[in-house]
This record gives sequence, structure tokens and C-alpha cells, in this order.
Amino acid sequence: MEPLLRATAERAWRYRQTLHDRKVAPTPDAIRRLSRLDQPLPDGPTDDEAVIALLDEVGSPATVASAGGRFFGFVVGSSLPVTVAANWLAGAWNQNAGIVVLSPIAAKLEDVAMRWMLDLLGLPPECGAGFVTCATQANFSGLAAARHALLAGQGWNVETQGLFGAPPIQVVVGDEVHVSVLKALTLLGLGRERVIRVAVDGQGRMRADALPPLDDRTILCLQAGNVNTGAFDPADQIIPRAKAAGAWVHVDGAFGLWAATAPARAHLTRGFSDADSWATDAHKWLNVPYDSGIVLVRQPQHLHAAMAVNAPYLVIGDTREPEHFTPDFSRRARGVEVWAALRSLGRQGLADLVERTCRHASRFAEGLSRAGYDVLNDVVINQALVAFGDAETTRRVIAGIQADGTCWAGGTVWQGHTAMRISVSSWATTEEDVDRSLRAMLRVAGEAREGAVR
Ligand SMILES: Cc1ncc(COP(=O)(O)O)c(C=O)c1O
Repeated sequence: MEPLLRATAERAWRYRQTLHDRKVAPTPDAIRRLSRLDQPLPDGPTDDEAVIALLDEVGSPATVASAGGRFFGFVVGSSLPVTVAANWLAGAWNQNAGIVVLSPIAAKLEDVAMRWMLDLLGLPPECGAGFVTCATQANFSGLAAARHALLAGQGWNVETQGLFGAPPIQVVVGDEVHVSVLKALTLLGLGRERVIRVAVDGQGRMRADALPPLDDRTILCLQAGNVNTGAFDPADQIIPRAKAAGAWVHVDGAFGLWAATAPARAHLTRGFSDADSWATDAHKWLNVPYDSGIVLVRQPQHLHAAMAVNAPYLVIGDTREPEHFTPDFSRRARGVEVWAALRSLGRQGLADLVERTCRHASRFAEGLSRAGYDVLNDVVINQALVAFGDAETTRRVIAGIQADGTCWAGGTVWQGHTAMRISVSSWATTEEDVDRSLRAMLRVAGEAREGAVR
């Protein structure tokens, strides 16, 4: 195994080294060369090093350089060096993190990482956590706990009885709800169109004065960090009312919850700690390798009731069993990289990462605004939205920026305006990356403007 692993480490190192100089999007040629993979299944074995060589030679150029410092699309983090290394070691361990008897180390690292996260995010220490694939799955899991708790309060056991004939549950979301929450509601049988949508303000924040009546059969979904603007719902105004009515409050904080870790941004997350469940990602702002999401629930017994199953052949101990808190049974040991990131960064390192990326987003917004383009949001964290003129021009500029390859940013429609989203989520982004990307954006936008005049 040794030559194979050493050679692969060398290839991986080279890949990360060259990320800085390559185009962020793969070239059309690199995509075309993927056809080299269209081969019949070999009858016999292939040498392992040849398999990895093919993977590297064909695969690496066809990746999107989102692990580098100039990818600003969606909300996509890179991976901190220590998390890549931890991921390799965990790959060598090949642990099934489902139950303690299969991996005491995976269970321990989840325990420790959970405690550290609760501390960092300012959430109640009594919370339980599930280490899942992504924020969508974390939303699903938190909402499953909510569904359990509210129906149990009505004398209905949804896990054993199902939803047919159950007392109705009302679900309230902001008009800017992320689609992942709607997907989770769909999967849970709560329906994505029977929700009550609450009006939002110009930043996408739920309007506290527009809340419908809430009661103990209501799940209220709040958002910490809008995917377009980065805005936070006013949790401190809304949650006390929801709790007084007996509602369950779930927070989609895929990336925004991490703002709590940076002293200058923490005020944005005020009040969110009074919710009942939270969904977040480690693969966004914490910069751990895909995939890695976390659900946190104040009263872990509700998550446990929604997820836990047992069978005679399983050896269930009397400590926390990871599979009792996630939809998956067998799964990889995601806690390894979360632990490594937190252990390596420490409180201060994480605060720096969050603050630095927020400042980079502001630098983008200032540069674009100075050049005469419309920044459509208040840049409160790491998200900036810019329009380069009308919808057609903005779309053309976005396509031009992506083709230019210096950096990558995607498009959106924000409250009727076509815009480009800039999300700075990578630890690797430097001020120089921002300036280099800004120059490319302004050059492409300038060319589009001249093209329109001509
Ligand atoms: C607010 C919000 N919620 C949920 C998600 C979904 O995250 P994931 O892709 O990890 O499921 C995102 C993704 O950007 C998001 O911004």
C-alpha cells in the first residue's frame, strides 16, 4: 500500500499547489477529456497506481477549483489543510461511525466536537447533535424532532402511527426560506405548499409584525444567514413570542450561525440560542471537506425519538449512540474533520476566519460600488449581491466572469433584480485574491458595457 499512498499524497499536494494558478472553472478541453472515462468495465484488474494516475490526469483538471481562494459561488467552503489530513487518516481508519462498538474514536470525536460547537455557537450545553451530510439533512433531522415533539404533545406517536389521521401541524416560514427547508418538509410529509409564508423586509428578514397566530401545533422556521444577502431574522423579537405560544422554533443556520464565533458579528445571532433546533454546515464556513452538516436539538430526546431504531444484533451501549441522532445508520466519521478544524483553529482562529471572509466580502462590495455598480444588500457577513445594470447585462457579465476563469461567482434573482452573488467562504482567500478577482470582474463588466454601447 505504501507506494500507492505516497504517490497519491504527492498528486494531491500538486493539485492543491497548482490551484492558485489555474482557471477556477474547468476548461472546455478538460471537460471534453472526461470522455476518456467512457470505457467498458475491464474484465481483469488494473494496476492501482494506474487507476489513480487516470483519476488525477483526467479528473483533476475537470474539477472546479472551489478548494482554492477565488471561488465565490453558492456558499462553498474550501478545506483547511488539517482537515484534509484528518480526512485521509479517517479514510485509512475506514470507520463505520454508526454505533460506538464499531468506532469508539468516531463517537468520542463527535462528543468533543459537539461540546466545542455548542460553546462556540452560544447554544445550550444540554443540546444533542447528529452529524449528517449537509444542512438539508440537518434541517430534515431538526424538523423530524419538531414533528415528533409537537405530535407527542397531542397524544400522537408519529414514528409508530405515521401521519395519516394525525392532528394537523402548522408550519410557518419566512418568504425567503431556503429551498432545503422546503425539501425537508416535503420528505417529512408536512408539505412544502401548505406552509404559511411570512412577509420579509428588503434584506429578506422575516417581519416580526407579520407573524400569524402561533400555537403548540406550530413549527416556526427561522433563518440565520440568508443565502443571498446574509441577513438574519430578528430572532430576539420573534422567538419569545413563539415560545410563549408553545411553538417549536427551528433555525436554518447553514452558514450564518458561525457568525456567533466572531465578536464583531456575534450580535447578528442574538436570540437564536432560544430556539429548539438548529441546522448548520461544517463544509461551508468551517472549511472541512464535503460532506458535513450538523443538527443540534435542545432536548435531545426528541431527535432520539425521531431517529433511533434498534435490532437484536446491534450492540447498543449506555453512552450516546451516533445512529440514534441521524437518519443514516452506516456512515463515515464526519466528526473527525470537525474536531480537527476546531482543534487546529481554536476560538481565535475561527473568529479570524469568519471575520476575514466577512471583510473580503465588504472589500468586493466597496470596489464594485466605487466603480458604479449597484450593491443590492447590506453586507453584514460574507455575502455580497451586485447588479451590473439590467438583467440581460448582469447575466452577460456573470457568464463573462465565469468564462474568464480568474474567479467564479454565480447568479440569482433577488426580490425581482437579477444579480451576481459573491460568497466568500474559503479560508484560502487572501486580499490579493479579492483584488485580482475584482479587477477581472470590472474588466469583464467594462467590456460588456462597451459591447452594449457599440
Ligand atoms: C441558508 C441555507 N440553508 C441551507 C442550505 C443547504 O445547504 P446544503 O447544501 O449543505 O444542504 C444552504 C446552502 O447554501 C443555505 O445557504
